[in-house]
Amino acid sequence: MDCYEPVLNAFILLYNAKERRIAMKELQEAILTRGKVINQDVLLVDTFLNHQVDPALMHNIGETFASFFRNGGVQRILTIESSGIAPAAFTAYELGVPLVIMKKQISKILTGDLMQTTVRSFTKGTEYQLTVKRDFLPAGERVLFIDDYLASGEAAFGAINLVREANATLCGIGIVIEKSFQSGRARLDELGIPVLSLARVSHMGADGIEFID
Ligand code: G4P
Repeated sequence: MDCYEPVLNAFILLYNAKERRIAMKELQEAILTRGKVINQDVLLVDTFLNHQVDPALMHNIGETFASFFRNGGVQRILTIESSGIAPAAFTAYELGVPLVIMKKQISKILTGDLMQTTVRSFTKGTEYQLTVKRDFLPAGERVLFIDDYLASGEAAFGAINLVREANATLCGIGIVIEKSFQSGRARLDELGIPVLSLARVSHMGADGIEFID
């Protein structure tokens, strides 16, 4: 069962409109000065998020997610390896709750009672079995999903599927960079899930990068 609480939703909508712009000006600056537009669909941010990681920026991102989901009674942070780990770890630290990393690679030591769902990455043209141990996603717990990118939403829907299978409660989704011109945000909004995206890119191309707000 998911918890799409109207109060939390309203709070996040309000925040999306105002404070996020102030709190995450630093993230927008990083995208503009250290990111690189590869084409109209792909933004390279390997200088601070995907490959090399800027810990001070990740710390601020973690604080921002934590402050907005703090009242949601979050008991566990959920993310997907690998680029979701840095922002999710700082968020988990700020909230004082465990971080659970869903795996994309099966290995010999990933055994026991596993939950799995298939995720297709449109950006990378790949497919993987998103996997988590049932023990690390206990029934009844309130979970916050954090990820680096929201594009078409496939990874987020994979997380939603596993949270549902676990009979846990999804309290919200925190995204570092949302490509608002792709379908993921609209698909999540249709479900009524509270989504907090710290940078919302409305357009990118040879002429530059534009943000919502
Ligand atoms: P979706 O989950 O929203 O549907 O996104 P999609 O399948 O299109 O892409 C998922 C993967 O592609 C994720 O990486 C995500 O970080 C990455 N990605 C999507 N858009 C961009 C982009 O504009 N720039 C960059 N740099 N990456 C993007 P992943 O497969 O989970 O890899 P990892 O880096 O987390 O290991």
